[in-house]
Amino acid sequence: MVVWHRIRKDFPVLDQLYEGKILIYFDSACMSLKPKQVWETIEYYYRYLGACGGAGRSTHSLGTETSLLAEEARDKVAKFINAKDSREIIWTRNATEGLNIAANSISITKNQNIVTTSLEHHSGMLPFYERAKKVGSEFRIVNASKDGRFDLSDFEKKIDDNTRIVSLVHASNVTGTIAPLKEIIEIAHEHNALVISDEAQYAPHAPLDVKKLDVDIAVLSMHKACGPSGMGVLYGKYDLLEEMDMFFVGGDVIEDVVYKDGKIIPKYLPPPHKFEAGLQNYAGMMGVGAAVDYLMNIGMEEVHNREQSLLRKLLRGMLDLEGIEIIGSTELKNRAALVSFRPKSDVVSHNDVSMYMNDMLPQHRIMMRAGNHCVHPFAYSIGMNPGKGEGSVRASLYIYNTFDEIEVFLGALEDFLRTIG
Ligand SMILES: Cc1ncc(COP(=O)(O)O)c(C=O)c1O
Repeated sequence: MVVWHRIRKDFPVLDQLYEGKILIYFDSACMSLKPKQVWETIEYYYRYLGACGGAGRSTHSLGTETSLLAEEARDKVAKFINAKDSREIIWTRNATEGLNIAANSISITKNQNIVTTSLEHHSGMLPFYERAKKVGSEFRIVNASKDGRFDLSDFEKKIDDNTRIVSLVHASNVTGTIAPLKEIIEIAHEHNALVISDEAQYAPHAPLDVKKLDVDIAVLSMHKACGPSGMGVLYGKYDLLEEMDMFFVGGDVIEDVVYKDGKIIPKYLPPPHKFEAGLQNYAGMMGVGAAVDYLMNIGMEEVHNREQSLLRKLLRGMLDLEGIEIIGSTELKNRAALVSFRPKSDVVSHNDVSMYMNDMLPQHRIMMRAGNHCVHPFAYSIGMNPGKGEGSVRASLYIYNTFDEIEVFLGALEDFLRTIG
């Protein structure tokens, strides 16, 4: 049994009074808070190791321990997402870097096309858009409905035998909707297209099984999963990683660089190292290892169920309030634990709501994100105009949030709406 108030104690950041007020953190979709197990692990690296890892390089004691711990962390991530082999796990700085590597390292010709959706985060859309532009391939967009859902028949229409890549977000960071990824992968694979899934908002919150999904590439944002900032992961099927080009080159990715007759002949290492140029963030890797240990100790099924109960209270409470528009679906089914909304008002904006919550409450600071959450195309598709500063506020939940916090938030939102009439 998970004792949730003890879990919360692992996040001492929530114990402080910030300028005299209690903190309520509703911005985990942007970045999660970090449990002490993670920063204690990072401290271990800096206090006792501080050296570089990397096979066959600094083979002294500190280097060897660093390498072993970093590789152990890779094994833990492989287990976390049920990858077949740890060599399928590439360290990145964030999900964006993983998406850029995928977009630029998969071979594609101008006769082929890339399919993506209107609900993508800019990080899941722009790398593919730019690659398509460079190569001259067609860039196709499947439109999400106004409530952020997909119709599988739209994928059937857009994906054909010339589709090389299908890139899509598993859980939306604006609407929270969960895409029917398994079914989309099946459609794509019937046409031999590769599927890249953006797991930034899914993997931290529910069990992810890349083998069962049969996804070709998945990118994760480990800083949203209790991990250190500046850490992400790219998972890829090993054969595909072998086939893909390097993205960054330099030190640490090569077996040898022969110099003969005035020419160089580089020989690159196999995956995962061929994608990890230069010295790495060893402290970050170990911190990610501690983060996935932490989440797996709780159990991802437990994490998911807890968040769904919190979400139920949040969404039901918000649906009872007049004066706000919820962006995307108002249903609980197939939804990540976040709600984006804006006041129905000509006088106040989404920014006013977030400022009120952070600065104006007598005893609390409720921290949320306001803006368009890096998903402008979807905003335009539902009639909002990010160019004119229109946007929404997002309340996003994680394992350390409580029902009491949701109560405080709903009360504060009701007060805010009352004061603006
Ligand atoms: C759905 C989605 N994809 C990609 C990203 C980018 O993640 P990162 O900051 O790790 O690059 C985010 C970040 O919020 C996101 O929500």
